[in-house]
Amino acid sequence: MSVHAWLDDRIGLADFLSFLRKKEVPDHSHAVWYFLGGMTLFFFMMQVLTGLLLIVYYQPGSDASYGSVQRITSQIEFGWLIRSVHSWSANLMLLSAFFHMFSVFFMKAYRAPRELTWWSGMGLLGLGMGFGFSGYLLPWDQLAYFATKIGLDVMEKSPLIGKELATMLRGGADVGVITLQRFYALHAAVLPVLFMPLLLLHLWLVQKHGNAAPPSVTEKKSVPFFPTFLYKDLMVWFLCLNLLALLASLWPWDLGPQADKLASAPDGIHPEWYFMSQFQLLKLIPGKVGPVDGELLGMGLFGAGGVLWALVPLWDRGSRGRLVNLVGLGAVIVLIVLTIWGYAGVAGKG
Ligand code: HEM
Repeated sequence: MSVHAWLDDRIGLADFLSFLRKKEVPDHSHAVWYFLGGMTLFFFMMQVLTGLLLIVYYQPGSDASYGSVQRITSQIEFGWLIRSVHSWSANLMLLSAFFHMFSVFFMKAYRAPRELTWWSGMGLLGLGMGFGFSGYLLPWDQLAYFATKIGLDVMEKSPLIGKELATMLRGGADVGVITLQRFYALHAAVLPVLFMPLLLLHLWLVQKHGNAAPPSVTEKKSVPFFPTFLYKDLMVWFLCLNLLALLASLWPWDLGPQADKLASAPDGIHPEWYFMSQFQLLKLIPGKVGPVDGELLGMGLFGAGGVLWALVPLWDRGSRGRLVNLVGLGAVIVLIVLTIWGYAGVAGKG
């Protein structure tokens, strides 16, 4: 009996393959954007693989954390490489997720019947940013400590449950060893448990509905996902692996001096790039706008923008295509300008 027949008898391999074969990927001049979801998936898989290896040596606890990351970086064989790949891949995953989100937005792939694909994607991006925020503190170096402190202060000022969430994460009056343990639990247990089923739902929906062609594409050419497009996906993954290897080995991830709570915050301290636009917006708004607290207003504005963005499948009626494109373009410009402005503001201070 062949392996194929053996597996088919036991797990219904033929049914699974025919489910894969059902999906067609539209073939047109914008089809290159269909690789972005797969690229995000590749970087996520790299995170799981390298994260599992880091867990073997990482120890939570302020001195223990810093010491274990030092050991990983300088004593454990290839530890520096695994840590560097984990950090670079985290950034590339979020970068490709942002590109993926904007590309499906402009291709209008959130329209019926893909609303749940859009919402599960938004959930994945939110959880992905949570991975980034919680992972940043784990090495317990000076930058990690102060950036987290600022991040939690900003969260505290956010409307609705911001204060409760920040208090729960901090676990005390100040960022300390309890915070570190909570962030570790979040990063290595809670977030993965939430992310995995949502990712499976996202991928299942994509498989079920197939990829959407943008409204401007009228010709009905397509290629089968399995195996034609999957081979192309694998080639792109191979390129991503090369990029990751180059970045991680040429620019290994740094470890700064150990966090010292009594020291003053380093000059030019700032959050990671994916939180920079919020950070800059808060800097631009005065402390008080009339009777309203400026930070509360800033975070409220950002939150309202996020809700409007998430609800696009509900307010984009076919006739509003141009307006929706303008909103999307506006969102891209605002995010890019605020992020660059934020970096310009801290340049030379760090
Ligand atoms: C963060 C982790 C994410 C992963 C691993 C992921 C993965 C994927 C994959 C593999 C595909 C199929 C290939 C493609 O069309 O690019 C896809 C499609 C899709 N994703 Fe994501 N995605 C993520 C985040 C997001 C986000 C943030 C959004 C938007 C808010 C989103 C919305 C969609 C939509 C609407 C489709 C269907 C596209 C179509 O029908 O053409 N995804 N995703």
